[in-house]
Amino acid sequence: MPEASKTTPEVTLDEIVALCKRRGFVFQASEIYGGLASTYDYGHYGVLLKNNVKAEWWRAMVGERDDIVALDSAILQHPRVWEASGHLAGFTDPLVDCRTCKLRFRADDLENAQCGRKPSLHPGEHSECDLTDPRQFNLMFKTHMGPVEEDAAVAYLRPETAQGIFINFKNVVQFARRKPPFGIAQVGKSFRNEITPGNFVFRTREFEQMEMEFFVPPDEAQTWFEYWLDERERWYTDLGVRPDYLRLREHPPEELSHYSSATSDIEYLFPIGWSELEGIANRGDFDLTQHAKFSGEKLEYFDQERGEAYVPHVIEPAAGADRAALAFIVDAYDTDEFEGRKRTVLRLHPRLAPVKAAVLPLVSKAGMPERAREIYEDVRSRVPAEYDEGGSIGKRYRRQDEIGTPWGITVDGQTLEDGTVTLRDRDSLEQERVQAEEIADRLAAKLAEPWQSPKLAA
Ligand code: GAP
Repeated sequence: MPEASKTTPEVTLDEIVALCKRRGFVFQASEIYGGLASTYDYGHYGVLLKNNVKAEWWRAMVGERDDIVALDSAILQHPRVWEASGHLAGFTDPLVDCRTCKLRFRADDLENAQCGRKPSLHPGEHSECDLTDPRQFNLMFKTHMGPVEEDAAVAYLRPETAQGIFINFKNVVQFARRKPPFGIAQVGKSFRNEITPGNFVFRTREFEQMEMEFFVPPDEAQTWFEYWLDERERWYTDLGVRPDYLRLREHPPEELSHYSSATSDIEYLFPIGWSELEGIANRGDFDLTQHAKFSGEKLEYFDQERGEAYVPHVIEPAAGADRAALAFIVDAYDTDEFEGRKRTVLRLHPRLAPVKAAVLPLVSKAGMPERAREIYEDVRSRVPAEYDEGGSIGKRYRRQDEIGTPWGITVDGQTLEDGTVTLRDRDSLEQERVQAEEIADRLAAKLAEPWQSPKLAA
């Protein structure tokens, strides 16, 4: 990955939150009840965008490869899974309480926290601060299976999707007839009772992960680790993220998770500064060995050629769908001036854009809406499209620009005469006349083309 050269974010988190709310991407959850801290609901365009992010991940992981298969494991697993994985004992953050202001802080992050008495100070700096010794706090959400709330019925909401993959290793080797190197990919919700969630959807207590566990012969682990670092970085840049806003950060030994022998984060320059977008870890044989020990099942691969059994090592690219969607929005956010007015535009990769084309009659009369609806039906049979006839054409374009629609198709008086429509490009703002019946094919072809952010040329 090239050296990241940017140091200052271009957009504030407040601007992103405002756009997301204004255009119905993301709302505060439980809003009518005053909201529930750090939980969010995705509206129509947010769902479409996040679905596109996940679809691109599936495409890169499974659709375009022969060596990775899909899995969808349960969120609730046997409690022994979390004992074996080390989450019950080790998935903790150190906490301190302030006896004066009754606030709770992460002991290892006091420099980023505000004192309850005086926000300009950090906890512990005010004369009245009275902090407890740090205590370990487990981040897993606990619940109960069945009608009785007793210890024997305790279950946990998964804090990562990865464990569902490890405990299915044997099933996949047997039924999907795979041999290392091969991977198992999964997308789904994970839950962490984070002590300091925040920064919009960057860190929440309920989020979606896109994880892939790649099982390899032990002596190939380092090669595959490097391979996945490159592949995953390329995934973001192929989807339009500017390389200057990405960097790789290697974890020092004291930061490594209990299972990892090496981890590097792909970081993005979010409005809150450089922060983790995705982690790529070499988990060694930790997980399979632990689950074999706790379950009594042999979790090995028998190599026919070598005539020996071994426990594969695991390379894990672990991404967050919400965090990736946020990074794509931030990277795409732009403002410019058009016809004397400020325009906000999301310059999303067309494959990520929630809507690819908007079909707009110039005015709601003279047969234009009827013809526009016919064209819309044709276009949406090939690419996701939207029909909009309400308000002035300028207002409708601005709305589409803000949700990142790459192409606008306008039906006007000339359409009724010669069958052509105007095709408007979101980024260059160029308009050309195209035969209406060619539009659907044309857009489908454009969607398949390589694309790079127009912000790179700016
Ligand atoms: N299985 C390894 C694992 O879970 P992680 O670095 O803790 O590793 C992987 O999580 C990714 O999941 C992160 O890079 C991030 O994108 C996302 N993620 C983790 N915690 C999150 C949270 N509280 N809110 C939103 N996304 C989160």
